[in-house]
Amino acid sequence: MTHHTLFVCVLCRYSEFNQNQSELSLGQLLFDQLSTELATCEWREAIRLKPVRCMGACSRACVVAFAAPDKLTFILSELSPTQSIPELLKFSSQYIACSGGKVPYKERPEAVKRGIHAVLPSLPH
Ligand code: FES
Repeated sequence: MTHHTLFVCVLCRYSEFNQNQSELSLGQLLFDQLSTELATCEWREAIRLKPVRCMGACSRACVVAFAAPDKLTFILSELSPTQSIPELLKFSSQYIACSGGKVPYKERPEAVKRGIHAVLPSLPH
């Protein structure tokens, strides 16, 4: 089985709202919520969630990346740490199902269409 990975930057910036009440960054909030929601998905065994400490797109928080062997890598940015969750979960199931990770543009959730930061080809063998 192909192993898919969803990288989530857990250092993406701190919210102006929760800075005084909590040490949680927006990225950590996104990671925690994705982790909770992914645990209930049928395809949870096919993708692992991996925290990353910065992916170099810090001014465009929140940042995630979908990657797998022989598949496109999608780097997404400017994601809401709360509202993007259902769309990221939907895209994760599409990414797992599609050969080469080539999820047709028109089928991608809106947050994914808006959030594309870069799409990288699969690594050559
Ligand atoms: S802190 Fe998230 S990309 Fe740098």
